[in-house]
Amino acid sequence: MTRLLDVRDLRVEFRTRDGVAEAVGGVSYGVDAGRTLAVLGESGSGKSVTAQAVMGILDSPPAFVTGGQVLFRGRDLLTMSPRERRSVRGAAMAMIFQDALSALNPVLTVGAQLAEMYEVHRGMSRKDARARAVELMDRVRIPAAKARVNDYPHQFSGGMRQRIMIAMAIALEPELIIADEPTTALDVTVQAQVMDLLDELRREYAMGLILITHDLGVVADVADEIAVMYAGRIVETAPVRELYRRPAHPYTRGLLDSIPRVDHKGKELYAIKGLPPSLLTVPTGCPFHPRCPRAQDICRTERPPLYEVPDATDTVAPGRASACHFWKDELDA
Ligand SMILES: Nc1ncnc2c1ncn2[C@@H]1O[C@H](COP(=O)(O)OP(=O)(O)O)[C@@H](O)[C@H]1O
Ligand code: SF4
Ligand SMILES: [Mg+2]
Repeated sequence: MTRLLDVRDLRVEFRTRDGVAEAVGGVSYGVDAGRTLAVLGESGSGKSVTAQAVMGILDSPPAFVTGGQVLFRGRDLLTMSPRERRSVRGAAMAMIFQDALSALNPVLTVGAQLAEMYEVHRGMSRKDARARAVELMDRVRIPAAKARVNDYPHQFSGGMRQRIMIAMAIALEPELIIADEPTTALDVTVQAQVMDLLDELRREYAMGLILITHDLGVVADVADEIAVMYAGRIVETAPVRELYRRPAHPYTRGLLDSIPRVDHKGKELYAIKGLPPSLLTVPTGCPFHPRCPRAQDICRTERPPLYEVPDATDTVAPGRASACHFWKDELDA
């Protein structure tokens, strides 16, 4: 079966005055229609740059896609003409950003911005487009949508603004949505509501969803698969339950152990020591070795490939992999 999105060995580098940073060093991931892939990792690990390369919205320079494929329904977006690519992106793919206030136009009412999607892409009359805008605001549960359609972005709360951005993203019924930290700027209770809404819409429209986050707590209930990124590469992929039950990479275990849990009340929270590396000076061998509690000599010199990892019944599970020389020890720990 052709996957909705199939990213293969994608490479992106930033050419700056300080040197070349390989921000994405051969990332492969994908998602099927109606499914959710969560992409997890600390700040600076290359999650957003990968997504922007997939969407075709990287600023070049300084960013250059230097290799790989981005197959959307089997067609490589990277080899399409810019025009063809724009037409795919406009209708079939949409992105939701962390900061709705800067993603929305401050001088246009939200109704005008939503209606514009229908006028431009669907050729609707202004009146019909306005009516659709109100429906859409209702759909993302903005209270009193009809009265608020003429308000400006700054007149909404953070959570409501994020709903408006979700409305913009689903307006043309895309097949794929990439949500980049969509709830990071929101209060915890609002976070859950916005995440539930996204999840509900993903199901209703059978969209593929790529959910980028640095917060493992957010993804447990909504993701099908998880890809964990570190220093511009994927270090572990797994179905979400497998990853929580039996992480196969010390970095993933560190992330899991640093989530606050009710049953651990009073205990000090684990924190992975040190900081992620600058991508201008990635450590030799396994890039995680300076921070890894399991590191051995070989880790300092040999970069681990993505090893296939069997599931609990010892069959190789599709999509389970770990870039750790000692993934077996980690699984058994
Ligand atoms: N405008 C830029 N100029 C130079 N390097 C950049 C730029 N944007 C991102 N990078 C590099 O790409 C890396 C990955 O960034 P990003 O994908 O935004 O991380 P994440 O989304 O995981 O927090 C950064 O650590 C940095 O090295
Ligand atoms: S390869 Fe070595 S340093 Fe890297 S995660 Fe595995 S044990 Fe740690
Ligand atoms: Mg980011």
